[in-house]
Amino acid sequence: MTEEPQLYHSVKIDSLELSGNLFLAPVAGYSDRSFRSVCYEHGADFAYTEMVSSEALVRASVKTATIMERAPNEKNLAVQIFGGEEKIMAEATKIVINTVNPQLIDINAGCPVPKIIKTGAGSALTREPERLGKIVKAVCSAVAETEKNIPVTVKIRSGWDQKHISFKEAAQAAIENGAKAITLHSRTRAQGYEGKADWSKLAELVQMFSNTNIPIFGSGDVFTPEDCKRMLEETSCSAVMFARGAMGNPFIFTQSKQLLQTGSYSEIPLSLRLKTGMKELNLLIEDIGEKAACREMRKRFCGYTKGISGAAEIRKQIVACSSVQDYENVVLSCYFL
Ligand SMILES: Cc1cc2nc3c(=O)[nH]c(=O)nc-3n(C[C@H](O)[C@H](O)[C@H](O)COP(=O)(O)O)c2cc1C
Repeated sequence: MTEEPQLYHSVKIDSLELSGNLFLAPVAGYSDRSFRSVCYEHGADFAYTEMVSSEALVRASVKTATIMERAPNEKNLAVQIFGGEEKIMAEATKIVINTVNPQLIDINAGCPVPKIIKTGAGSALTREPERLGKIVKAVCSAVAETEKNIPVTVKIRSGWDQKHISFKEAAQAAIENGAKAITLHSRTRAQGYEGKADWSKLAELVQMFSNTNIPIFGSGDVFTPEDCKRMLEETSCSAVMFARGAMGNPFIFTQSKQLLQTGSYSEIPLSLRLKTGMKELNLLIEDIGEKAACREMRKRFCGYTKGISGAAEIRKQIVACSSVQDYENVVLSCYFL
């Protein structure tokens, strides 16, 4: 009798060993260290910073340096950088390593935002595999110069649009030039974040590298623990990345792990949801101060109240919060609905 493969398992990215395969995706405006910290607390096995501009790093932007800071409970730090210029990406790599000494550097080849694409970065790199290869090579050489053993990975899209699907060529070019893992967000640039992610492309990519030691990670439309299980079953990818599904819902990591290991998972009580939202707020305050954190948490806190009865009324209160006291009042209202 052949044994069923374990869906929850450790992951090896070159020399980096991770205890599990449930990752927090890089998400601009969300995956700062307060949220990464909360995700680690609730079962994430690995988490990426939001994309950091190579140009800004080279210009020594203080704000940019803050994005990369490690959370106290963050054993492994993965910094994602973006840019379209080899030299600047190489220089930025050295700055990242000297500033925060991460365990992994990821290159963004998927961002669909016009301002980013115009500079030759983001999904422009999935469209141009040869240029992507050169950037990967430059970043890997920069890592080698520091004499650190830090794997470089790449996050790509499936292509520019339906007529220009280039994920296989992009992945191949990245790996030939030194990348140690690939994440595929199986939407095209033209889709943005709309429509369905096409997991069959992810399955194809996994198949393409099945005889190598290069792990392939999946991103796109993982909103529930069941989605996570299905992605692993349907594509055999090595790890699943949660993006929008984890916003205001870091519990999705523990729940997915439970589902993969036992076949079911427990619901999260309202008290824990609210407590975790307040924890994220307080961590964010440590980094950016009460005023900015309270403003920033408005969109995030709504996620923590999703699904509770009277959530629409609560949301109205949240979007007006400007102090910790305001948020505490929201929490109280949640109990008295
Ligand atoms: C608001 C927002 C910001 C994002 N920022 C980044 C980013 O900085 N770097 C990146 O590689 N992907 C970024 N992504 C893409 C996500 O990592 C992920 O690939 C995508 O959302 C698909 O997953 P989902 O359908 O499960 O949300 C972002 C997505 C959203 C919605």
